[in-house]
Amino acid sequence: MILHIDGEINKYYVQTLFMVFFPGSTFGENEELREGVPEAWVSVYPDRDGAYTSYVRIRLNDKSCEATETVSGKEDITISTHASLAVGRAIFAAGKEMLGHIPPWGILTGIRPAKMAGALLADGKGIIRSKRILRDEYFLAPQKAALAVSVAATENKILKKIPKNGCSVYISIPFCPSRCSYCSFVSYTNAKLLSLIDDYLQAICEDIDQTFSVIKELGMQVLTVYIGGGTPTILSPDQLRILFKRIRKNIDTNTLMEFTLEAGRPDTITSEKLAIAKRYGVTRISVNPQTLNDDILKEIGRRHTVEDFYRAFELAKKSGIRDINVDLIAGLPGDDFKNFSETMDKIIDLAPTNITVHTFCVKKAADVLKKNADVYSLTGGDASKSVFYSQLKAKFSGYKPYYMYRQKNTVGNLENVGFSFEGHEGLYNIFMMEETQPIFAIGAGAVTKLVRQGDADKGGYRIERIFRPKYPYEFLRDAEKKRNGDEESAVKSYRCRILEFYR
Ligand SMILES: C[S@@+](CC[C@H](N)C(=O)[O-])C[C@H]1O[C@@H](n2cnc3c(N)ncnc32)[C@H](O)[C@@H]1O
Ligand code: SF4
Repeated sequence: MILHIDGEINKYYVQTLFMVFFPGSTFGENEELREGVPEAWVSVYPDRDGAYTSYVRIRLNDKSCEATETVSGKEDITISTHASLAVGRAIFAAGKEMLGHIPPWGILTGIRPAKMAGALLADGKGIIRSKRILRDEYFLAPQKAALAVSVAATENKILKKIPKNGCSVYISIPFCPSRCSYCSFVSYTNAKLLSLIDDYLQAICEDIDQTFSVIKELGMQVLTVYIGGGTPTILSPDQLRILFKRIRKNIDTNTLMEFTLEAGRPDTITSEKLAIAKRYGVTRISVNPQTLNDDILKEIGRRHTVEDFYRAFELAKKSGIRDINVDLIAGLPGDDFKNFSETMDKIIDLAPTNITVHTFCVKKAADVLKKNADVYSLTGGDASKSVFYSQLKAKFSGYKPYYMYRQKNTVGNLENVGFSFEGHEGLYNIFMMEETQPIFAIGAGAVTKLVRQGDADKGGYRIERIFRPKYPYEFLRDAEKKRNGDEESAVKSYRCRILEFYR
C-alpha cells in the first residue's frame, strides 16, 4: 500500500488501521502503484478549542472514496487522543465506503480490548456506558463491545483480590515431537536438537534456583507457575520428576494459586506423566486437539488423531488434576463452519473447565496475499461465524470469557478468547494480559515482564520486558558462562537488571 501522511500522527497506528481493510498490506518505501495496490492520503490538524479534523482519501484501481471527521475538543476521551480518534474515524468511514466492509473491532487497535474496557470501568463509566462508548466512539460491533466489557469485569473482580506483592513464574520447554505446519513458535523438533533436552533441563533447573532467590530477595510472593512450550510433556517421566523436584525445592507448590503444565500435544500425554504432575501439585493442564477432524489434523501436520485426543483427555480427567484446558483454532485451512461447530459441540459435551478458542493466525503477511481461499478474505469467511458461534455456545453452556487478546494477521481480524467455568479462570493468563504483576521467565524464547505499580516519585506505573535468549542453544551457552563464573555473563546482567528495576 502507498501511504501519504500529513500531520502529527503515529505512522504505525495509521498502517494498522489500513491493515484492517487491506489485510496483508506492506508499506515499504519501494511500494509501486499498480493494479490492486491501494493508495491513501491521510491528514490531521488541530482546529479551535482542542478539536482535531482528519481528512482521508483512498484510491484503489478506478475507485476513490474520501471522508472528513472532526473530534471536538469537548469530547470526553478516556484512552485515545483527539487526533488519533479523528484519524481512526475518517479511515473507518472511507474504508467502509470503499469496500462495504464493517470491521468487527471498529477502530480499536494497538490496545487490548479488555484493557480499554477495563480503563472505562475504572473511570466509573459502568458496564452499559462502557459498552456504548466502545460501540459509538470506536465503532465496535455490539457483540465485540459486550465481549470486551464482560472480560474486563471478570478480570477486575479477580485482580481486586490478588496480593499486591504477587508475581508469577513461567518456565519454557521449547521442544516438540514434530512441527505443526502453521506454527511459528520457537521450538526444536529434530532428533539432533531434541538430544539437547537433558542439558537444557539442567540449565533451567539452575535458572529456577536463581530466579526464586531473586524473587525472595525482592519480598515477592509467587502466585502462579506456568510450564509452557513447545510441548512440556515431551519430557520423559524421569525428566518431569527432575523439573518438578527443582520447583518443589524452591516453593511449596501447595501454596500456589495455580500450577499449569501446558501438555498440549495429546500424543505426548501418558497416565504416568499425569500422575507425576498431580503428585507435584499441578492444578491445570492443557490437552489440545485444535480441531476434532482427522483430515484437517493431517492437513496441518499435527501428527495425532482425534482418537489420541479423546484418550489423552480421559487420562487427564482420571488424573484428578483440577482444571483441564482445551485449545481450539477457528479458521484453520480446510476448516468450515460445519466442522468447527461440530468440534465446539463435542468439546462442550466433555465439559472441560477451560476452553481457549484461537483464530487462525497467518504468520507471514505474504501468505495472506498469496492464498485466495475464502478464509483469507476481509470478512474471514467461515472463521467469523465460527468464532461467533464458539462465544454463543460457550455462554449458553455455563462458560464465561475471562481473557482475550488480538494478534496481527488473524483471519478476519478476529480475536482469541479463553472461556472458563466461574472460579476456574486461568489466572496466569489474566496476569500475563493485564500486566499488573511481574512475570519471571525461565528458559529460551521466554520474556520476563517487570512491573512496578504506584510510586509517583518514580514515574508511576512502569513496565520493562527482558527477552531471555531466543534459542535453547543460546540459553545453554549462557548457562555455561555462568557456571564458569563469567562476571560479564548475560545471566549476571539479567539479575542486575531485575534488582535495578526494583531499587
Ligand atoms: C504455544 S502453543 C503450544 C501448545 C502445544 N504445543 C500444542 O500445540 O498443543 C499454544 C496454542 O496456540 C495456538 N496456536 C499456535 N499457532 C497458531 C496459529 N498459527 N494460529 C492460531 N493459533 C495458534 C494453538 O491453539 C496452540 O494450542
Ligand atoms: S506442538 Fe504446539 S508448539 Fe509444537 S509445533 Fe505444534 S503448535 Fe507449535
